[in-house]
Amino acid sequence: MAERVFSVLGLFETPDALLAAVPRLKAKALGRLEAYTPYPVHGLEEAMGLRRSPLGGMVMVMGVLGTLTALLFQYWMNAVDYPLVTGGKDPSSWQAFVPIMFEVTVLFATFTAGLGMLLLLNKLPAFWHPFLDSEASKVATRDRFALAVEAEAGLLDAAAVSAALKAAGAASVETIPEPASARLVSINALLGLAAAGAAACVLAGAFMYWGIKLFPTLPPMSHMLAQPRLDAQMPSRFFRDSRGMRTPAEGAVARGGLPYPFDKDDQARGLANPLPRTEEVLRLGKKVFSNNCLICHGPLADGNPILTAAYGGKPANLQSKKFLDYPEGEIYHTIMRGKNAMPRLGDGFTEDERWAVIHYLRALQRAQHAKDSDL
Ligand code: HEC
Repeated sequence: MAERVFSVLGLFETPDALLAAVPRLKAKALGRLEAYTPYPVHGLEEAMGLRRSPLGGMVMVMGVLGTLTALLFQYWMNAVDYPLVTGGKDPSSWQAFVPIMFEVTVLFATFTAGLGMLLLLNKLPAFWHPFLDSEASKVATRDRFALAVEAEAGLLDAAAVSAALKAAGAASVETIPEPASARLVSINALLGLAAAGAAACVLAGAFMYWGIKLFPTLPPMSHMLAQPRLDAQMPSRFFRDSRGMRTPAEGAVARGGLPYPFDKDDQARGLANPLPRTEEVLRLGKKVFSNNCLICHGPLADGNPILTAAYGGKPANLQSKKFLDYPEGEIYHTIMRGKNAMPRLGDGFTEDERWAVIHYLRALQRAQHAKDSDL
């Protein structure tokens, strides 16, 4: 059996001869047409009836996907999973997401354009094409114009194509045999790529390592460190008393807070817990307790601190008889004002957090002193 043919290729002397031959071969429908020219030949695309590249559409789809990814990602992080109020702004305001949305759009779009072109349309990692082994490839990059008829589904009538090309004005005709498929992807090329990637990583790592070691005082982005601003405890020439740190204006109240008027715990005795004892409240209370109280009062609030004896204070055993029916207002007062070795912590909590931790404390006490009726 004869060797299988990849394509039959005719060389033309001028672009006009090539352009004239295209419709004649197209009319014969012997196989898929492909042209190789040293420079873009005007009108060739239309003559061959090439379709527009699908790359634009792919980039569009992936770009929009990038926009949506960034929008949803930021919305979920900022408004759902970890809402942080910055400068009093709504955590879900989309305007703040725009820069990242823009960046991710560009990222998705450019990567789609680059990788789509190289991997999908240019068929990397194949570095080779049957045409590259032909004699014609040497002149088609210089001053000749090649028109190839490629086999479709492995079928090509080489003799007929050859005759048709000659009839259409080809100066010479060459047959390109079907390559052994293994040659299309070269293991060596893949290994080379991997080695180059690894070398680049090592080089970048070494560069960073020595860069930071040799220039430890060079922060990578110093514009935020170096900006004119007042750090804590710094003097200021702007204010007459030269203090950089300003106390809040007289009578100012934190957002969502109320001024706490009491100085003695018996004044606070009458305060009642405004929160219902729901699962949600208890969960909030547990969080506040675990993060703030547990280290001194112990996980069971029985006064066994996690802190070592070096702390010096003797945290109250809140499971003791005294505290079981201690007025909640006085616990609130302790949180707000502190007591001896216990610091005043209340300013760091919201109103709800203060009352929620009291609910949780009550639950801890009840768990340690369960009655038959609790079962
Ligand atoms: C740095 C350690 C420390 C932390 C943190 C701490 N406490 Fe205390 N707490 C103490 C000490 C010490 C005492 C005993 C004070 C005293 O009577 O001299 C105490 C006493 C108390 C009392 C009894 C007050 C009274 O009237 O006798 C309550 C109630 C209390 N703490 C609740 C809390 C709650 C609620 C938290 C978390 C929001 C908390 N503590 C966090 C150290 C701490």
